[in-house]
Formats: sequence, structure tokens, C-alpha cells
Amino acid sequence: MRTKIVAGNWKMNKNLQETKELLAELSAKLPDTDADVIVAPTFVNLQAAKTALQDSTIQVAAQNMHFAENGAYTGEISADMLLSLGVDVVILGHSERRSYFGEDDALLAKKVKTAIEKDMKIIFCFGEELEDRKSGNHFALVESQLKNALFDLEANAWNKIVLAYEPVWAIGTGETASPEQAQEMHAFIRKTIADAYNSSIAEGVSILYGGSVKPANAAEIFSKPDVDGGLIGGASLVATDFTDIIKAI
Ligand code: PGA
Repeated sequence: MRTKIVAGNWKMNKNLQETKELLAELSAKLPDTDADVIVAPTFVNLQAAKTALQDSTIQVAAQNMHFAENGAYTGEISADMLLSLGVDVVILGHSERRSYFGEDDALLAKKVKTAIEKDMKIIFCFGEELEDRKSGNHFALVESQLKNALFDLEANAWNKIVLAYEPVWAIGTGETASPEQAQEMHAFIRKTIADAYNSSIAEGVSILYGGSVKPANAAEIFSKPDVDGGLIGGASLVATDFTDIIKAI
């Protein structure tokens, strides 16, 4: 059985007070679930989040990190800094990091390598732009994103990888991939991994869908056999929306 996961990517939202309030509300309303529930507040609030969730099953993730051990990288955050707070889950490759901060597959491959060396769990995001989908290039594009950043990993690293397929045209736009489009791509991703590694790795990896998941559409998307949960942006900022999405899995 693959692990089901609902992860909230808070992006650049919620100050310290708001972070504490949202986490208190989330903890109070958290439904019984088999799924792993993860939240990713901004770096400056990770420590407060860890403290607020010390008696909770909700896990805390970072939204990004640098690949280097330490050094002259002004404004950056290392794996050790995260680990020293007890944060051992990191989102890498989010489309906003790729498009606004120039993160390409080669850079992401370095970050992935560091995270694996540090024994961190990675939620690796990827997905096509609208033009790729319109031109029918979306499968090739997704395959190249996986290959370039992940397929140099040793087979045993894959138990630390969670994939998040996020078509860029569906992120924050209110437009979702249809459940059928999500299933079609997730099945393709699994086959690509089976071809590159083997079927047991492909069958074991959790593949999340992300892009305008809301309480109203979550159950249908999560009902698809190759969709193992969601990476939630906007709707993770409202406790009842996020808990309703957790109930849908
Ligand atoms: P969204 O964001 O749910 O607001 O579309 C998803 C994401 O960026 O991970």
C-alpha cells in the first residue's frame, strides 16, 4: 500500500501570529486519517510550527533549500539548518521556484542529491506549462524533468521521494486538470519510473496531484488509482478547506 499524503504549501503567506493561529485550528479540526498530513510554512516560521505541532501527527516541511553544506550564499538555507529544527521534509522544484527564481533541472538534481545525502524526505514537484500541453509535448516534458533531476539516484533513494505532479496551468488559476488528465499523467509517470528502475519502485512511490485542489474537487481527483494525495496551495491556508480535503482522501 502506498502512503497517502495531503501536503499544504503555504508559499509566502502567514506571519508568525497567523501561523500559530492556523496550526492551532488545524490541530483542533484534524480528522482521523490514514494519510500523512504535512504543512510547509515559510522558513522563518518553521521553528514555531514545530513547537506548535509537537504533540500532533502533522509533519512540517520546508518549501525549498540550498544544495551546499554551508558558506557564502546570502539569503539561503541549508539542509543542516532545517534538520537542526527537526524539519526533515523539503519541497523541491516547485514551479514558482523554477519560473521566478530560475531553478532548472540541473540545479534541482544537486538539491535532490544533497537532501538524499542528508536522509531527508523530498516532495519533488514538476509539471508542464500550458504550451506544452497544447502542443502535445506534456508527456515528453514531464519525462525529461524526472530524468534530469531524479534518475541518477540509486534505487534505494526512492523510499525518500514523493512526487508532486503539478501542471503549471492549474496552479493558483482555479483551473484543475480533470481527474482523467491527472490519472493519465500519473500512470505515465509510474510507467516511466518502472522503465527507468523497476515496477516495485514505481508501485511504491506516492504521486500527489497539485493545482487548484479544493474541497469541491478533491474526492474525485483522489479517487483515481494512481493519485495518492495532493499538494495544496491556496486551500491549505483555510483550516476547514484543508481538513475537508484531508477528509476526501
Ligand atoms: P494551488 O497551488 O492549490 O493554489 O493551485 C498548488 C501548489 O502550488 O502547490
